[in-house]
Amino acid sequence: MSESLDLAAFPADFTWGTATSAYQIEGAVAEDGRAPSIWDTFSHTPGRIDNDDHGDVACDHYHRWPEDIALMKRLGADAYRLSIAWPRVMPGGHGPVNAAGLDFYDRLVDGLLDAGITPNVTLYHWDLPQALQDRGGWTVRETAEHLADYASAVAGRLGDRVTRWATLNEPLCSGWIGHLEGRMAPGLTDLTAAVRASYHLLLAHGLATRAVRAAAPGAQVGLVTNHSTVEAASTRPEDIAAATRMDGHTNRWWLDPVYGRGFPADMRELYGVDLPERPGDLETIAAPLDWHGLNYYFPATVTDDPEGPVPHAREVRLPDVPRTGMDWQIDAGGLEALLLRLADDYGVRELYVTENGSAFPDDVSPDGAVHDPDRARYLEQHLSACARAVRKGVPLAGYYAWSLLDNFEWAYGYDKRFGLVHVDYATQARTVKTSGLRYAEIIRAHRESHA
Ligand code: IFM
Repeated sequence: MSESLDLAAFPADFTWGTATSAYQIEGAVAEDGRAPSIWDTFSHTPGRIDNDDHGDVACDHYHRWPEDIALMKRLGADAYRLSIAWPRVMPGGHGPVNAAGLDFYDRLVDGLLDAGITPNVTLYHWDLPQALQDRGGWTVRETAEHLADYASAVAGRLGDRVTRWATLNEPLCSGWIGHLEGRMAPGLTDLTAAVRASYHLLLAHGLATRAVRAAAPGAQVGLVTNHSTVEAASTRPEDIAAATRMDGHTNRWWLDPVYGRGFPADMRELYGVDLPERPGDLETIAAPLDWHGLNYYFPATVTDDPEGPVPHAREVRLPDVPRTGMDWQIDAGGLEALLLRLADDYGVRELYVTENGSAFPDDVSPDGAVHDPDRARYLEQHLSACARAVRKGVPLAGYYAWSLLDNFEWAYGYDKRFGLVHVDYATQARTVKTSGLRYAEIIRAHRESHA
């Protein structure tokens, strides 16, 4: 155990979890009535994904979930963050519920609870039913309303056993990367579409919050957002202004409306796109939440880029800093800073790190083990950052490592491995990596310290 990891900082009831999402692990894309999502379409479009990988089989979790629950138990995790595939439950995106789709999650939830593992369910982790995309996707208001209907159906079925719900995962990625940068489904590069999508995503969050609470009284509802700290590359006023814009684009646009401040005026002006506002929407978006989930991976350093795309701020690649296999800078201090910001600036009263982790190239060694000291170090550094934040008063209630398993890393396909458990995609054999064993050791040590 690392000397520097202050486990005593974490409260006795601290949640230790792992996280995944449906399209990244389930496979079985055409089974039991599931219809295509935008990620099926995108991943089957040649050239969109490295190696032209797709999620057709992924980790075959749809069939191997009992084995995967056993892995969670082996790690000693007491919680599991999963997402529900909308196109499994409502293949058309709205209208009839597919009973067989809901049955799968019913069995999974029961299996988790039998194993003593608390499910934390995300309703939307990017797999929009293609049928809704064909009608405009997130650029139209109806999609937000349909998400609420779908949320109601899921919460109505699982809400007697699931208490912790997240509406959306990382709306920034759906909004900006999917509609502005084109690197994720649906693959658009259109500022107007992106701004409209961002608005409807946040509206969907608010509507779904209400729907889950109505269908499952006592539900603890939150939102999961991803953020980066943003630094200016120099003290030049232009770079400082670029950092403010990037902070608005990455952080404030997604937090200010949720915490009752409305959409930031400077960013509205910068985007220059009319929001599809209706009376009452801002109140819906700002519905008080029970908790907030922070996904953190890397910081950003930016320089002014007047000719570049919105927000006219270009990320600078710092030399001589540690990086993961994604080429993402490793900076655990960014996690501490963001936790403090959410607690102190936005007033969040119950916080979770809902994702944090690192990809590195891994191999199964001749000794049968997967030795991944870099990932174990990343984990410890970021848990230390969490402990420092807790010591400073941040109400951090849990940490979910991304990810339980190596899985389909979106546009990067299967080459980027984030798992605490290695997956051999040819055989579907699972091997707990040394980082997974380290996580188990940390969890055990924390529990013993409170026994
Ligand atoms: O794999 C993704 C996950 O789906 C959302 N958050 C970031 C992870 C790593 O890129």
